[in-house]
Amino acid sequence: MIRAFFVFISLICFSIVAHGQLITNIPNRTTTSLNGKWHYIIDPYETGYFDYRYRPYDTDENRKKSSAAFFNYAKAKNKLDRVEYDFDKSATLLVPGDWNSQDDKLLYYEGTIWYKKSFDYKKTGTGHPRVFVHFGAVNYIAEVYLNGEKLGTHEGGFTPFDFEVTDILKVENNCLVLKVDNTRFKEAVPTVNTDWWNYGGITRDVKLVEVPEVFIRDYFIQLKKGSDNIIAGFVQLNNAEKETEINISIPEIDFYKKIKTDNRGRAVFEFEINKLILWSPENPKLYKVIISSQYETLTDQIGFRTIESKNGKIILNGKPIFLRGICLHEENTMRGGRAYSDADALIALTWAKELNCNFMRLAHYPHNEHMIRMADKMGILLWEEIPVYWTVDFTNYQTYGKARSQLTEVITRDKNRASVIIWSMANETPQSDARYAFLKNLISLTRQMDDTRLVSAALQHRSEKGVNIIDDPISHEVDIVAFNQYIGWYGGHPKDIPNVKWAFDQNKPVIISEFGAGALAGLHGDRETRWTEEYAEYLYEQTILMMKKMPELQGVTPWILADFRSPKRVLPYIQDGWNRKGLISNTGEKKKAFFVMQKWYAEIEGNKK
Ligand code: GCU
Repeated sequence: MIRAFFVFISLICFSIVAHGQLITNIPNRTTTSLNGKWHYIIDPYETGYFDYRYRPYDTDENRKKSSAAFFNYAKAKNKLDRVEYDFDKSATLLVPGDWNSQDDKLLYYEGTIWYKKSFDYKKTGTGHPRVFVHFGAVNYIAEVYLNGEKLGTHEGGFTPFDFEVTDILKVENNCLVLKVDNTRFKEAVPTVNTDWWNYGGITRDVKLVEVPEVFIRDYFIQLKKGSDNIIAGFVQLNNAEKETEINISIPEIDFYKKIKTDNRGRAVFEFEINKLILWSPENPKLYKVIISSQYETLTDQIGFRTIESKNGKIILNGKPIFLRGICLHEENTMRGGRAYSDADALIALTWAKELNCNFMRLAHYPHNEHMIRMADKMGILLWEEIPVYWTVDFTNYQTYGKARSQLTEVITRDKNRASVIIWSMANETPQSDARYAFLKNLISLTRQMDDTRLVSAALQHRSEKGVNIIDDPISHEVDIVAFNQYIGWYGGHPKDIPNVKWAFDQNKPVIISEFGAGALAGLHGDRETRWTEEYAEYLYEQTILMMKKMPELQGVTPWILADFRSPKRVLPYIQDGWNRKGLISNTGEKKKAFFVMQKWYAEIEGNKK
């Protein structure tokens, strides 16, 4: 069984690698935003996609026969024509943004919604002839059409993708149509079972990106693993143009280098570099880095730092660091919808700073790029993860391919961000041979793509003779052993927490990647009464007493910064569709447990100085 699984994986690997063409550093490129109002049509029976014999219109022969299919965006030309929809007379949704939080009738909607955006297009005058349409993310499956032509499909709700539109764009009245389907299904990543809201839609920015004929599609510029004075990486052109000269410069430190691309259009480099001020939470120093060719000049804002796991410690820039963290879902809790902007990122990161954090676990899927770049600027270290969550179908090689795609896309997008120090593979996944093979392969992909960062996964413990043990086989494969524990909430009593004993089978840094308790903000009582702020406060106090007695512990990310929507949480007058483990409520109120954590982190920070 396992051998067959590995065979499948090698097939998937080839196919996935063959088509990855993501353009990176979108924020610093020549772009035109397509954000704003998009018309939409709710289509729970996929009438616009399948004919009455359930054959997809989306095939050439079928398409010609029908003018009734949504994606053709046909318009009735005369009173005889039969067209049974009209985008322009339909309602609108804001993009970026999930549909659930924009209209009460869509709050629980799971299915297909068609989006349409009309726009004129004139070049921005930079002389770049090629144009791509770039999506920050669409949850969960997107079928994309421009002016009646199918551009392609993307599966995965939290990572970017793009399609070239150079030869399809018109000067006037372009018609961009998406079929977006957020239906959950067993083979997906995540699978059907999650403790968060299944927000559907075009949840992140949409932009047209202009690039030259031959352009710099991607690059990796970071300190070499184990070094603080050598930068290494690559610059990748969009095609196999060889002998193209590439300049990499960091003017602030008089760093100017020339490299040449090989016959794959890739220029690999390694240079000594001095005078760098290393990026850190205390001093999140970003440099203006200029990457140019004869065709274009790109700039980026890049921080340089080292991160290692050594002798049971996490070492940042050569010194041990304790990660004072907090978990976060990608949600603006006051809006009750997906977060997607700089403003949303600023709220979350400012709250984290108030909590005296230097670290955040972005759960349970890749967050939007605004968040990552804002963390770079504000000096918050990040744990990023893909939604290989709970009961993902580990025996299904297509499911593996989906996880691999999402991991490839998030590492491709964020590998130059100093704040990102940990790539996490999974959350609370049940142990099995298939799951071990699945995760082990994701780990080796991660190390191939980026050996400068640390690898982890949120594991679970077992109990034996009164000791809680973490000896998950995956702990052999990661750099940091992370685990979730809810003693005092899902079993046990807060009063017993300080005496809980832990055992680890690896001499590696340990992070408690989740602990917490539900509390309704404003509900007060004694500390034995569940759902009161006092119960949660007491559990946090007791957990800190326990953590102070764990020498292996090098970081903690309590679950969670803010209350978040979950269809699983239905207790009337307490949950009402919200998971109440937030230290901050969905009306922005800090609960008593917030101040317990804030005080301990301040003590740790004080001791460190
Ligand atoms: C789990 C899981 C979270 C979930 C949390 C909870 O550990 O990782 O996604 O929300 O516990 O039960 O609140």
